[in-house]
Amino acid sequence: SVLTRRKLLQGAAAAGAAGIGLSAAGKLAGLAAAKPEPLILKTASIEARLMDGAPTKNVLTYGEAGMPPVVRMRKGEPFAARLINGIDDPTTIHWHGVRVPNKMDGVPFLVQPYVYQGDRFDYAFTPPDAGTFWYHPHCNTLIQMGHGLTGVIVVENPNDPVFDVEMVVNLRDWRLGDDSQFIESFRPRDAAKTGTFGTVRTANWLDQPQFDAPAGGLVRLRTAITDVTRIYAFRVDGAEASVIALDGNPVSQRFALDALQLGPGQRLELAIRMPDDEGAVVSLRDVRGTKPKILATLRSVGRSLKHDLRDLGRLEANPVAEVDVAGAKRIPLALSATAENVPGDGICGSLGYSFWAINKVPWPGDTPDPTAPLAELKLGQSYVIDMENLTPHAHPIHLHGMGFKVLSSSTRAVQPLVSDTYLIQPNEKVQLGFVADNPGDWLLHCHIIEHQKTGMTSYLRVV
Ligand code: C2O
Ligand code: CU
Repeated sequence: SVLTRRKLLQGAAAAGAAGIGLSAAGKLAGLAAAKPEPLILKTASIEARLMDGAPTKNVLTYGEAGMPPVVRMRKGEPFAARLINGIDDPTTIHWHGVRVPNKMDGVPFLVQPYVYQGDRFDYAFTPPDAGTFWYHPHCNTLIQMGHGLTGVIVVENPNDPVFDVEMVVNLRDWRLGDDSQFIESFRPRDAAKTGTFGTVRTANWLDQPQFDAPAGGLVRLRTAITDVTRIYAFRVDGAEASVIALDGNPVSQRFALDALQLGPGQRLELAIRMPDDEGAVVSLRDVRGTKPKILATLRSVGRSLKHDLRDLGRLEANPVAEVDVAGAKRIPLALSATAENVPGDGICGSLGYSFWAINKVPWPGDTPDPTAPLAELKLGQSYVIDMENLTPHAHPIHLHGMGFKVLSSSTRAVQPLVSDTYLIQPNEKVQLGFVADNPGDWLLHCHIIEHQKTGMTSYLRVV
């Protein structure tokens, strides 16, 4: 009914603006030396209403109800979380894009043991960077993430410019049948191409939620693509919108949003100036492909604040070490399809196929003694990854543990953006520079989970 729907939306707006699951670390601001009380993230299987009709069973989340909380941290302040596994499947948490010590990175076998049902694991680290990040398991991910375990992280910086309102939008799909229940998580023929798409699309687990925002006000919209497959092309209609940050890092030069393509794992931060007229509606759209989709809307409320985007201060750059391009060593990295079938068990379960390879090696499996790293890097040395996409599909390639700078591309002009995930297009060659300043084993993989799980994974060792 309309009433229930309206209520739901208000709930979502409140959650988006205030952030739920506010961490104890936030309350201890100013007492940086004190050990923060851990935020409890307990996995659970719940029923949730994700489409019209019956509730969906076997939805997975952290907490007791609804979507995983927006986890708030503060740049430079200690954060702690306790994962308690309440589901009948081993799990872990990976803090996507947050530069954490290797032992906190959440990749089973490589850096930490499985967390079995009833067990717990304590994570503790100090996020060095402010921005929008996200968290998810790194075990049996097609199922665990596909069923709901994807949440957004906001790392606040007290020096950030002040907006009139902030909204956090978690974008993802679900593979549900007409009866609202989960259907098969993938089809092999799709895994060998773009990946298998969801059937129900949501923002904050809702269909086109509407948020209220002050007329003439400035909105900070933080969006994370936490879907396992879908690539988006973003557009905002009805208001001025400029891109202020991508993948957890401020852009060097703000630019108007115009069908910007981003893939699974990536984040978009927009500054939106709401229209002056009360009731005016602004929409965030995905215009990729043949069926454009309104993802969420913002409605102007109240008398115009008459604020101006041009008055917004800049976001501080994150303290990511500057790559020495001239002195950098090169790491060639070719993404391809493969015909070689490798028996094995991918990180936390394979899908039983290998379709993809990095430097001709499909990830052969995941044993307590996995496979050789793609490269062994020297701590403190600069590197440039020369990445080439030899496949007819786009791949969002994600590096754990270190931020890289996008240096150049063979097909487009790039901003010198710092990121953790690069969406490489077919026939594109790109140079990604970084300083190997975080010791340990760092996964590098496609974030289309079916690609990751059918060979497009490897890791870099920094010693
Ligand atoms: Cu978003 Cu290997 O992770
Ligand atoms: Cu891929």
